[in-house]
Amino acid sequence: MPFKRNILCIGAGYVGGPTMAMIAFKCPQYKVTVVDINPERIAQWNSDNLPIYEPGLDQVVRAARGRNLFFSTEIEKGIQESDVIFVSVNTPTKTFGAGAGMAADLQYWDKTAREIRKYSRSNKIIVEKSTLPVKTAQAMERILTCADTALCFDVLSNPEFLAEGTAIQNLENPDRVLIGSAQSAEGICARDVLVEIYANWVPREKIITSNIWSSELSKLVANAFLAQRISSVNSISALCEKADADVQEVARAVGMDSRVGAKFLNASVGFGGSCFKKDILNLVYICRYYDLREVADYWEGVVKINEYQKERFILNMLQVMFNTLAGKKICLFGFAFKADTGDTRESPAIQIAKRLMEERAELVITDPKAIYNAEEDLKGAIGNVTYVEDPCDAAAGCCAIAVMTEWPLYKNLDYREIYRKMAKPAFIFDGRNILDHEALHNMGFNVFPIGKPPLTHF
Ligand code: NAD
Ligand code: UGA
Repeated sequence: MPFKRNILCIGAGYVGGPTMAMIAFKCPQYKVTVVDINPERIAQWNSDNLPIYEPGLDQVVRAARGRNLFFSTEIEKGIQESDVIFVSVNTPTKTFGAGAGMAADLQYWDKTAREIRKYSRSNKIIVEKSTLPVKTAQAMERILTCADTALCFDVLSNPEFLAEGTAIQNLENPDRVLIGSAQSAEGICARDVLVEIYANWVPREKIITSNIWSSELSKLVANAFLAQRISSVNSISALCEKADADVQEVARAVGMDSRVGAKFLNASVGFGGSCFKKDILNLVYICRYYDLREVADYWEGVVKINEYQKERFILNMLQVMFNTLAGKKICLFGFAFKADTGDTRESPAIQIAKRLMEERAELVITDPKAIYNAEEDLKGAIGNVTYVEDPCDAAAGCCAIAVMTEWPLYKNLDYREIYRKMAKPAFIFDGRNILDHEALHNMGFNVFPIGKPPLTHF
């Protein structure tokens, strides 16, 4: 039986791969093809060893792959055969020229638009899945329609809100699906095609529609609000440490107000991940472009507090370990930017590892999923680093453990045995507040949580 619709996704990354796998899984009537310029990535998607670690992803891919889900490098063929094209290429922060360090680098996006124009032989609906500056759809439309062509391209905005580590849960049961479109008859028609795809498994009241600029902007604002909560609680963690208050107690008291809400108030060593920083800086850049200086400065504060929190963590380690780390072995528990992912992009652990190496500490790094990425991240950094799979072995002989990632496995280790094997005095810096600080202190550790009084033996 022929498929009801041919869907293509350009970009087989953290978003393109899982999102399309879910569409294919839920909608056997559609053929879903994911293409990428990176042949190794595509080969991994076609193997038993998927290119990203995401709980539940294996099962979803296995159920649909070869049935109605295909991964390929044939971009030209994919474009020609499809009627709906999701574009999910990377949009990192620009590293060169005007707006370097702030603006979104749209080169991959621009290239994709030109390829769609070049290879299209029929009308298409183009769906922006990547996170983009507001008004990008206009640029897309201009690139697509500038050639002398009778073809019609409708551009929609459909930002992705999944979080890594819970991507499959988020895709299967999203808080909302947002679809922005032009308000013309053609725009509404294209929007309805996308609504129909999601309505195969997402309750209709959770599929919300808006004008296209609101949709593009909502994605940047959603990430800015989430990151703002973390920077807010992290800023208060610094005050708690001075005032002998406990940031978890404060967050609980504040978060129980239903107007504030309890989620995303865990003080930490800082937020990481590929998007929060880049999307806020993009928002800041756009505000500066429109000469909204106060608005730009307000949001830039969220990133500044995050940098401050990481630096504060390092300086605290240095100070409490008698103002020298040179030659001391320090073990990092975790390197991923959060638990349940092997992704280390913008992980606070990268900056902390590099700063510890500057202080000439010897590093031992352990992580259940991110050791390979950690090695890549620290390639070329000057200093002594070893990578050890088992956290208990990793901590042996070290003066300090610094918890970088909230992997649940770190909660249940045999810390008595770990303490025995460590150099004394032994320190634990819990950058995620996940350990039982009291119990560790009773074993002999000097414990330094985030935003709580330290428990020491001095
Ligand atoms: P990624 O780097 O993992 O994947 C992007 C893929 O696009 C890469 O595999 C790259 O090879 C491919 N690509 C680039 N140019 C191409 C081209 N011309 N043709 C074909 N393939 C091309 O990035 P990601 O994390 O999946 O993010 C993609 C977008 O989604 C970004 O805009 C990001 O901000 C947004 N986003 C990411 C997340 C997340 O959790 N990672 C969540 C929501 C939104
Ligand atoms: C985030 C958003 O949650 C997603 O909605 C969004 O789609 C995505 O960015 C994106 O656009 O890329 P993600 O970065 O994958 O998802 O993970 P989060 O769970 O948001 O965590 C981000 C960082 O904040 C992590 O380093 C995490 O440890 C940290 N965090 C989170 C805290 O320090 N405290 C908290 O209370 C929550």
